[in-house]
Parts: sequence; structure tokens; C-alpha cells
Amino acid sequence: MQTRVLTGITTTGTPHLGNYVGAIRPAIEASRRSEVDAFFFMADYHALIKSDDAARIERSRLEIAATWLAAGLDPQRVTFYRQSDIPEIPELTWFLTCIASKGMLNRAHAYKAAVDKNTAVGEDPDAGVTAGLYMYPVLMAADILAFDAHQVPVGRDQIQHIEMARDLAQRFNHLHGGDFFVLPEVLIEEQVATLPGLDGRKMSKSYDNTIPLFAGGAKHLRETIMRIVTDSRAPGEPKDPDNSALFTLFRAFASEVESTAFRQALLDGIGWGEAKQVLYERIEADVAPMRERYEALIADPGAIEEILQEGARKARAIATPKVAALREVLGLRAMTTAPASTSGAKPASKPGKMPRLASFRDADGSFRFRLFSADGEELLLSVAFADPKAAGAVQKRIKSLAAGAATWQISALAVGLELDGQVVASTPDQADEAARDAMLDRLREALGQFATQES
Ligand code: TRP
Repeated sequence: MQTRVLTGITTTGTPHLGNYVGAIRPAIEASRRSEVDAFFFMADYHALIKSDDAARIERSRLEIAATWLAAGLDPQRVTFYRQSDIPEIPELTWFLTCIASKGMLNRAHAYKAAVDKNTAVGEDPDAGVTAGLYMYPVLMAADILAFDAHQVPVGRDQIQHIEMARDLAQRFNHLHGGDFFVLPEVLIEEQVATLPGLDGRKMSKSYDNTIPLFAGGAKHLRETIMRIVTDSRAPGEPKDPDNSALFTLFRAFASEVESTAFRQALLDGIGWGEAKQVLYERIEADVAPMRERYEALIADPGAIEEILQEGARKARAIATPKVAALREVLGLRAMTTAPASTSGAKPASKPGKMPRLASFRDADGSFRFRLFSADGEELLLSVAFADPKAAGAVQKRIKSLAAGAATWQISALAVGLELDGQVVASTPDQADEAARDAMLDRLREALGQFATQES
């Protein structure tokens, strides 16, 4: 079985070399492994929490999609989509919100940091905190649980969020007595390099020390690399590779052999300017072909849109039946499957006292229904129907079937209901034959109740 690996990409900002080496490249490499079923999505609903700048969100989504595609993401093999194209995610967010403890959300790092900051300056603890920020972990749990992801590769700062997703999955499973959600595991890529930025600190947008991946083209890449801070050793003086951001950056792109040669050049006293030129050429060798693809993609947003629409279709093929099954579990069922009275006529007895047919959608996308007795016991589970209309037609016939007219197929421990010589639904296995016969009586009774109601 494949491992489903799912990760969300935040869509604020323009991708830089640190994003490429630390996240994009390893994720794409992992997605090529045959045992991995990869799901990558742009977390644009999450982006709304941090930004109300529509133009920026729009631009950023486009750039990020083009970047991942240019970097080699294969949308045929990976499910690549936008969070905001999956309406099941906000729906599931609400289901999870209703079981999320407020105390757990109070402890979320990002929210706590905001509260601490307010408290430190004597502000109201919740000043400037939106409910969106507060609910961030629940939305993220829905992202993961909607697709039954096994593993979620994230940075260390996200571990708590995955733990909350597990907590919510467990709580739901427990409350409703079933394995409705896979419990996701966090995947921390230990060996992935964090790149130093221009000033030697970790490359990060918040330090304003990034080297852009594509923005500004080759010229801008070279200019930025030339601004990397070095010590004041003159050409001819040996340089220390292990304390040089240049060497760390070089190694993130080069082979062992190339890295050894560059190390030696530094030890031999290559000038910083020349070393930067070598670094630039090495990075540019990798980046140039990607940049070319990137620019072609950016120039054709319609093609990206099509790819993402197709990704959304693939993603929803999983999320739609999943959420439909959850609706069923939660009691949000179609009323057409509840005991109905013919229009205008009075119900034969109290609605709560009638047997009930309930449709649901199976995990594989097929349609089924159950028959429950008036006191809620499950009597029958239908076979799978590919077509909801066929499932509906069979339910209609069952309702109008007088008890005496039904044909039963009796096996050792179960009873099947036959229509036109085909078993369309059967009882759960019973403990013994006596229990099976008692079950048959209850089935006849239930069909009888339908018949009196329908007449
Ligand atoms: N919160 C993640 C981050 O800041 C992005 C994200 C949103 C995510 N939904 C997700 C990551 C689901 C993994 C799975 O990096």
C-alpha cells in the first residue's frame, strides 16, 4: 500500500533559495518514490488569516504554483491543488470545530504568542487576534483529515498542529465509534539543509536576507549573491569553508566532488569575489532551466489554472465521499430517506416510531443504504450501487413491499432481502440460528410498518 504524504504550502511571499532547498526540492524528490502518494496544496484559506491584500494573495498563488511545477512537480503523479477549490475542507473544519476543545486552541503556539505579546504591553490579551488565527489549527486538521493522510512533512514549528490534528481525529473516532479518520503522523526531514541568508543567519523572509529563486532573473541572482557578507580576508589568504555561508550554499547545490574542489579553492585562498562568481555559476546551472519553465508558465496562467482544476477534481474524488459519509454519521442525512408520509396525509404513527432507511456514500464512492428498525437497530445493509438513483429506486420498492411479499434468502447466520432474484441488502451476521430467525421476524415487522404507513 502507498503512504499518503500530504503537505500544505503557505501562499504569502515569493519563493527563495531557502524554500527551494529546504522544502520544494526534497518534497518533489519524495513524491517521485513509488511508495508515496503525494498531495501538495496551496493553503490559500490559511493565507487569508495573515493577509487581506487580494492582489498579493492572487500573485503569490500563481508564483507558487508556477514555482513548484517549474521545479519538477509532476501533476500527473502528484495531487496538486488549491485548498480553496475544495469546499469539503471548510465543511470538515466546522465538524471538527464542534468537537475541538477551546482549551486546546488556547494552547496553540501562534495564538499564545499573540496573547503573550499583548499581555506584556498591558493590552487586552485578545487585542488584534482574529477568530481565524485562533482556528488556524482546526482548518489545518481538516486539510489533513479530509484525505486520510498518513504522513505530514512539516517544519518543527508545525509539530503542535499535527498533534492537534491527531487529537481531533481521535476524538471524532471515539465519539462516533469508528475509524473515520486516519491518525496522521508528523514527518520531520532531519537531513534537509537550512540555508544561510545574505547575513549568515538562517535565510528567511522575516530577516530580509533572502536570495530569490527566480525573481529578477539571472542578473538579479548574481547581484544578490555578490552581496553575501564575508570576512575581510584578502585574495590569497586561506578562507575557512566551515564558517562560510558561501560554502554552505554551494554544497546545497553541488556534488561531493564539486564541493571538495570548492573547499580546496577556499583553503587555497581564492578571492571572495571570485568565489561568489563560482557559487553563482553553480546555482545558475540548476536554476536556469527551471527559470525558463517558470517564465513560460507565468506567461500562461490558463495552463496552470487547468492543472489546478484537474488537481481539485482528483482531490475531491476523495474528499467528497469522505465528507458525505461524515454527514451521515453526524445525522445530517437526506430527509428523503427518513420515514416520509404521503403528501397531505397524516403519518400513520409518530415519526419517531417508524423504521427508517438511510442512504450514505461509501469510502469508494459507491452508494448504499441501511434499514433501521423503529427503535434504531440496524436491520439491513444494502449492496453497493454505482448510481444513487438505482439505490433510491430499490429503497422505494422496499418501502412499498408488503411484508408477506418479500423474498428472503436465508443463510447460516444472516438473512438477505431479494428483489428480482438478487440480494439487494442483508442483515449483519447473527450469533446463531435462533437469533437469525428473531431477526427475520423483526425485518418482517419493519416492512409491515412501512406498508401500513404507505397505504
Ligand atoms: N501551517 C503550515 C505552514 O505554515 C501550512 C499548512 C496548512 C499545512 N495546512 C497544512 C502543512 C496541512 C501541512 C498540512 O507551513
